[in-house]
Amino acid sequence: MESSGFAVAIMAAGKGTRLKSKRPKVLHEVGGRALLLHVIAAAETVAPAREIFCIIGHEADSVRAAVERTGVQFVLQAEQRGTGHAMQVLKAALELSGAPLPKHLLVLSGDVPLIRPETLAVLTQFHIAQNAAMTILTAVPPDPTGYGRIIRSGPDSPEVEAIVEQKSLRPDQLRTPEINSGIYCFETAALFSKLDQLSTDNAHGEYYLTDVAGLLVAAGQRVVAIKADGVEQVLGANTIAEMMHLDAAMRAESARRLMAAGVTIFRPETCVIDAEVEVGPDTVIEPFTQLLGATRIGSDCRIRSYSVIQNSTIADGVTIRNGCILDGAEVSSGAIIGPYSHLRPESRIGEGAHVGNFCETKKVTIGRGSKANHLTYLGDAVIGDGTNVGAGVITCNYDGVHKHVTRIGDGSFIGSDCTLVAPISVGSGAYVAAGSCITQNVPDDALALGRAHQVTKEGWAAKKRKRLD
Ligand code: UD1
Ligand code: CA
Repeated sequence: MESSGFAVAIMAAGKGTRLKSKRPKVLHEVGGRALLLHVIAAAETVAPAREIFCIIGHEADSVRAAVERTGVQFVLQAEQRGTGHAMQVLKAALELSGAPLPKHLLVLSGDVPLIRPETLAVLTQFHIAQNAAMTILTAVPPDPTGYGRIIRSGPDSPEVEAIVEQKSLRPDQLRTPEINSGIYCFETAALFSKLDQLSTDNAHGEYYLTDVAGLLVAAGQRVVAIKADGVEQVLGANTIAEMMHLDAAMRAESARRLMAAGVTIFRPETCVIDAEVEVGPDTVIEPFTQLLGATRIGSDCRIRSYSVIQNSTIADGVTIRNGCILDGAEVSSGAIIGPYSHLRPESRIGEGAHVGNFCETKKVTIGRGSKANHLTYLGDAVIGDGTNVGAGVITCNYDGVHKHVTRIGDGSFIGSDCTLVAPISVGSGAYVAAGSCITQNVPDDALALGRAHQVTKEGWAAKKRKRLD
């Protein structure tokens, strides 16, 4: 990406005390993705990853590990002494690096995840156009409690006098409706010139970045504010309840996006759909469905209620009946899955194949038109086209130490309740009799029986009853 003259700082070092969670706040998820990853994705629309500085501190190692693949830079704020302190630490790190300072700095909060790229574009342009030392992104939410408030110079003025934190509001300021989103643009030199003047003389005993606004104004520099379009995108996530509010907003947005693209979703408010999920037109999604991670679903599918589909690829015209769990599975066109099937990672279901009631699959390829309709476990197996796997068939893939492969050819028939002890292969066109325990390979077109011969004793029961009488 072309440099826009902006570097980005993301404040992500805080503990998130109000969450009462072991996990650092910025790794909590909304819309199926960590808060910080949402923010990084937004930041990447403004600057390349090498000019995005993530300020980390609390659980720094796990935060770094979770987002490292994005290629952003990290700055360690070992002790978290407030958002102003986070900037002091960034300043020290940038000065130490000896690299030229970026002219402008966009500052994002790691816990404001719904921020939209278009809004950041408007904010950065406004900052430049206003020739401001500091530009604050704001909003007017239904309930401003808990947020820092914007004190403007006048009702219609873009200029700001100060940001006042909730706990420092004077009684006459309590009703100030406009909040600080925690997202700002700064002229880097102006910001850095004021950081030494911050104090911890406030309700939290922290260095507030928000105090920089008043300091700049006092020095005759221009501080302005611009309202974001809509409130949701600037809401912060300090508590689990706030986070779930953002999660619901994000899911609702995913459902709206899919419906706008021709997908029918009954009772969308009951469905959980992650932001990256793609679904083709004319697919119908029934209530209480979850579509998670990098799931891709084609057109003309029907996803019935209570199915949970994660990181899976489903082609066109597939039916997923009620109550299925798919994780890392690939389902080809026209296949029918369920009800109550569990397709685990690397399950590849062929065109028009059926995997039915209470079947579990793992690392398996099932060929075109093959069927395994009832109560079956198929793991580490390769099954050809047009093969029928009877009720209750089990691939015994595990010897207690290693996993072994079962191969079944095309057009074979595996009778009900067979166990196939791997490594094993059953050829094409072969039959395996019901109730067999198969331990030796079965050639093409053969019949294999692996069970005790039946003994029938005529009249035995009648005689026994007579004896007991
Ligand atoms: C902050 C603002 C408030 C604004 C609100 C918007 C301050 C003083 N207040 O309050 O005006 O309305 O955001 O959501 O800035 N962080 C660090 N290092 C620290 C402390 C915090 O990196 O030492 C990070 C946190 O991880 C978080 C972000 O900065 O991602 C904001 O910190 P938080 O404590 O949540 O600030 P708020 O109380 O929400
Ligand atoms: Ca916050």
